[in-house]
Amino acid sequence: MFVLNLLFKKPSKEAEKAMHDALKHPHVTPGIAPEILNAQEMVKSITQHQHAQIVNSGNSAIMAVMNALDGPFILPDQGGWIGFKRIAEFLGKEIITLETEWGIISPEKLELLLDNLVQVPSALFLTSFAAYTAEQPVRELFELCHENDMILVEDASGSVGDPEKRLCNGNHAHIIIGSTGSPKIVNVGNGGFVSTNDKAILEKSQLLYKMLKADSVTCAGIQAEMKLAPYNLDKTVNACNFLKKNLGTVFHKNKRGITVILPSENPRQDSRNLRKHLHTDGKGIITTCPQYNRLMEKAVCIEIKNLNTDCLTKDTLKQIVEFVDNTLF
Ligand SMILES: Cc1ncc(COP(=O)(O)O)c(C=O)c1O
Repeated sequence: MFVLNLLFKKPSKEAEKAMHDALKHPHVTPGIAPEILNAQEMVKSITQHQHAQIVNSGNSAIMAVMNALDGPFILPDQGGWIGFKRIAEFLGKEIITLETEWGIISPEKLELLLDNLVQVPSALFLTSFAAYTAEQPVRELFELCHENDMILVEDASGSVGDPEKRLCNGNHAHIIIGSTGSPKIVNVGNGGFVSTNDKAILEKSQLLYKMLKADSVTCAGIQAEMKLAPYNLDKTVNACNFLKKNLGTVFHKNKRGITVILPSENPRQDSRNLRKHLHTDGKGIITTCPQYNRLMEKAVCIEIKNLNTDCLTKDTLKQIVEFVDNTLF
């Protein structure tokens, strides 16, 4: 039986070492641990925002941001992050759902929605890559939000260190949040961040930031992993470009992404088949749609973002293409 052995993403050697060192030298003097301050500086240098907070998870970052905003919040109808919905509901904030083109938010549709609303929503929440598979037109959306006095919150868990500087860029997002959990582009296993130029937004959730703060070991890992993010993201995007180009029908064929989504008549059966043959030394790389975090269509996802970039060689990618072509098409 054909089996392709792939490497599941783990924290880098550099992050492991930094985390070990932080563990060996606990911060016992008054003041904030240097690892926490260094991680904040690193986030600011990546997002180009003036202020940053490190928290213990991506969802904590969303919670702290949503708490500081009044609502209503505009959320995409698919291809977002389910935490947007759950946390908004938990905080009692009103949600307005925006119809998308398989997760992609069109500025025209957003404008139309705003024209028809009596109350201007306080924020639009989106992920940099819709369904992790297609880049959002973040800059255009930011300009539209700005004109309408709305805040654009970009969840950049999948796009930290974008070499094209179109995503995770504080010049066209009022607030950037991210998860540094596993498996993410900044892959520490724990943690998250918020950055913005608007200090008042951070101050409004000061109590939450105290409660949700990350430990210095996580922060040491974040700093080390963020240095590697541009390289890891580039490799992952290039691998997905290759797969999208060489596979038959895929969603958002010509868009940048870190996951590849293929339509399927029988997603459960196809997923089972793919899982049997695409092995990793950790968790899996096959997920099934319909689901809010990806697409509300019958489809299977190959989560290239979950793989160690060392195994994304041309040869391996060609084998994935050949195998998937034979299994699904
Ligand atoms: C896009 C996105 N945002 C936020 C989160 C939540 O992050 P965490 O698990 O660190 O709370 C996830 C988790 O998978 C995610 O994929």
